[in-house]
Amino acid sequence: MLLFILAAPGLGCWEQVSSEWFAQMKEQPAVQALEGVQPLMPPEGTVPVGGIEPRIDSPVPAFSPQAQALQNPVAMTQASVERGKQVYTIYCSVCHGADGMSNPEQNPVARRFAEGGMPPTPLLAVPAYSDGFLFTKIRYGKPGMPGYPQIPPEDRWHVVNYLRTLIKGG
Ligand code: HEC
Repeated sequence: MLLFILAAPGLGCWEQVSSEWFAQMKEQPAVQALEGVQPLMPPEGTVPVGGIEPRIDSPVPAFSPQAQALQNPVAMTQASVERGKQVYTIYCSVCHGADGMSNPEQNPVARRFAEGGMPPTPLLAVPAYSDGFLFTKIRYGKPGMPGYPQIPPEDRWHVVNYLRTLIKGG
């Protein structure tokens, strides 16, 4: 009986032993339309509409002189702060908490980091962070924190403005 069960799948005509008996649909030349095709690259010398953000070559870019020299070009308006809060809530609050205090007791992700010996820094406890530091920190992260290059520069300045309102209020 056991032998039959084991042999049955091999005997079924839907699973023939030799592919030379007759053609099967699953064995056909596959057309890989995009195989070996390079994506269309922008012409040499062109730049994105929003310009290019120069890359900071430093082991910890947030501490570099270039980062410290950056001026926040986005005015601290209500709209900017609201946008910053939105972006912060999406990207940062999971580790740093909705209130910026990075309470590991309240955030499972922050707790995991804390258990690993690298708790997320309570952001609002450090008002001395410069705008350029925060902006660059978000872009590159640090050994203990992932970088967020996917947050466009303008949104990063909005996050900085939002953090400033929290820090001032705190
Ligand atoms: C996956 C968890 C995680 C996320 C998400 C995260 N951080 Fe962090 N962050 C950390 C950890 C861990 C540290 C402490 C280690 C370090 O400084 O690299 C930290 C530290 C910081 C510091 C202090 C740096 C210092 O040198 O004192 C700042 C500022 C900061 N984060 C800002 C942000 C902002 C803004 C966001 C959202 C764009 C963000 N973080 C998202 C985990 C995270």
